[in-house]
Amino acid sequence: MTEVSTHQAQEDARNDNVLIWVNGTLKPRAEAMVSVFDSGFMLGDGVWEGLRLYNGRWAFLDEHMDRLFEAAKAIDLDIGMERDGVIAALEETRKSNGMESDAHARLMVTRGVKTRPFQHPSLSQQGPTVVIIMEHSKPSIPRPLRLATVPHQRGLPMTQDPKLNSHSKLNCILACIAAEKAGADEALMLDVHGFVNTTNACNFFIVRKGAVWTSTGDYCMNGITRQKVIDLCRINDIPVFERNYSLVDTYGADEAFLTGTFGAQTPVSEIDGRQIGCGEAGPITLRLRALYKELVTS
Ligand SMILES: Cc1ncc(COP(=O)(O)O)c(C=O)c1O
Repeated sequence: MTEVSTHQAQEDARNDNVLIWVNGTLKPRAEAMVSVFDSGFMLGDGVWEGLRLYNGRWAFLDEHMDRLFEAAKAIDLDIGMERDGVIAALEETRKSNGMESDAHARLMVTRGVKTRPFQHPSLSQQGPTVVIIMEHSKPSIPRPLRLATVPHQRGLPMTQDPKLNSHSKLNCILACIAAEKAGADEALMLDVHGFVNTTNACNFFIVRKGAVWTSTGDYCMNGITRQKVIDLCRINDIPVFERNYSLVDTYGADEAFLTGTFGAQTPVSEIDGRQIGCGEAGPITLRLRALYKELVTS
């Protein structure tokens, strides 16, 4: 079966020549560089956001800015710009690249260049490194995804709070590698109690008897798309529960789907070799996808 990932997009030759925002300067892709002493490169010490552009507007920009500044505060990182400055940088990058819709931005802030190659944050003395990579991007996920559960857990908040969108994603990457080696596309990760939690790069939902279930929200990324799906369910009288549930409930679900800024709602066909529902996007997944599309494009 063809290899598929949750962030697969149509090839777009324009991306060879995009301009990338690096600390206030727009650089051609090949010249956009950070130091080998950068805290992000050296230690994964930074936070980031993924945003999508629909019809000239960054979807849920306020929510993304809230999460970015909250994460920066949590890791005691001064972004060195106010919220308006970050939004202006996004807009400058967008306009310089002539992007109006179907674009994706990865906005990254690290603790910046270190004086010596060691961990202590006080060695980062030049201010943060801020980079915005923007791509023309039309998601192109050719079939529903197959998931495999993996031994890597979503941990407790005092280890490395899974709500932090940190540069260091090694736990998720190891989960993804394990899933791939098991023949799946993405990893389904359990929480420390064994309840089904999330995937390595997206949030996770199931549908049972017309009701939508997702995890309590503990142990997973506080996904903006996740919250929008919950809100859409509530507004449209679709029963929705944030609750603990196990793999038994999950294998027996009628539908399952992932959520994330990039792919919106991505159907799941199979988990650990068990077909989910009819193995295709189910009616509630399709309805939520249509409602979400309306929300981001209206
Ligand atoms: C681990 C993880 N889960 C879920 C998400 C989806 O979050 P959002 O819907 O805000 O894009 C992300 C995106 O960064 C993520 O890294």
